[in-house]
Amino acid sequence: MNNVAFYDTKPYDRVYMERAERSNELRWQFHEFRLTRETAGTAGGAQSVCVFVNDRLDRPCLEALHAGGVRHIALRCAGFNNVDLDAARAVGLAVTRVPAYSPHAVAEHAVGLLLTLNRKIHRAYNRVREHNFSLAGLVGFDLCGKTVGVVGTGKIGRIAAQIFRGFGTTVLAYDPFPAPEWATVQQVTYVDFPDVLARSDILTLHLPLTPETHQLLNERTLAMLKPGAFVINTSRGKLIDSTALIQHLKSGHLGGVALDVYEEEEGIFFEDHSSTVLQDDELTLLLSFPNVLITSHQAFLTQEALGEIARVTTANLLALGRGDFLPGSRLA
Ligand code: NAI
Repeated sequence: MNNVAFYDTKPYDRVYMERAERSNELRWQFHEFRLTRETAGTAGGAQSVCVFVNDRLDRPCLEALHAGGVRHIALRCAGFNNVDLDAARAVGLAVTRVPAYSPHAVAEHAVGLLLTLNRKIHRAYNRVREHNFSLAGLVGFDLCGKTVGVVGTGKIGRIAAQIFRGFGTTVLAYDPFPAPEWATVQQVTYVDFPDVLARSDILTLHLPLTPETHQLLNERTLAMLKPGAFVINTSRGKLIDSTALIQHLKSGHLGGVALDVYEEEEGIFFEDHSSTVLQDDELTLLLSFPNVLITSHQAFLTQEALGEIARVTTANLLALGRGDFLPGSRLA
């Protein structure tokens, strides 16, 4: 029997995890709060912890987990910027993730955000419900014929690029590790980073957060975007400097911004704050702009993705002791 301390639990997590684990070899301890150095003591008695994107596994947290008997960190997500992998190796903790669960879920959400923002469907929905059938202020643009810049052509970026090709857009891409054969087949053109910024009407981010990509879009690089450009970020909030983004929205330089992730989302996203005063002034400001659309890190939230996350995570949890984690899952 493997005791698993499960953090940042939402109702859908329990449903999909319990459905995926039929052997009864895992004993779940579901916690609704996040795992941090302050809450690490609650994992006492567990051999594994199961965490998501906003749990923070820094060195003190990992040391506390190990001291309490934990031997395995199972990330139920793809990104792993919230785990200090060097520290995990040093203290002797195995770390696994779900390398790909549904790249379609994330790419489709990115496109959905753009369509909604550009055609102002969210505003039209509210108007019509109040019997306001006016079209004033709802003008958008055709995607066909525009240029889309895809930054990061891994699993998600490639699908996003292919969907955008289907709209009849020109797709430019930037990735330090390009996939030239794929690009030829899909009629996607790789260019360098300054070029993708300067030539895109729509820029969409599909790269991991690392020390090198932290605030990839900042005052300097945002200034290189075309006037009126739209920016979509479904990857990680810290890829964009929010202060600089707000300046480029206030000046009218950017045409629109769609975010599924936000630089300081930890402790805000995934929770209901509707009865409290939001303390994050930049998020409050962004939410007030008519040309900004924000969702709360939900790009992964499809039946297919949740099913696959549960399947891979439980397989990795059951493999502890045998060490045969699923191929591509092991990070440390
Ligand atoms: P992947 O690992 O398949 O692809 C990432 C690509 O980014 C690689 O081709 C890599 O070479 C490229 N890259 C690395 N550094 C770069 C740079 N400086 N500039 C441009 N490209 C760079 O990852 P995948 O599965 O496509 O996921 C991408 C990101 O999406 C994840 O790292 C994660 O942060 C985010 N994500 C967000 C979700 C959500 O619910 N909003 C769900 C799943 C992933």
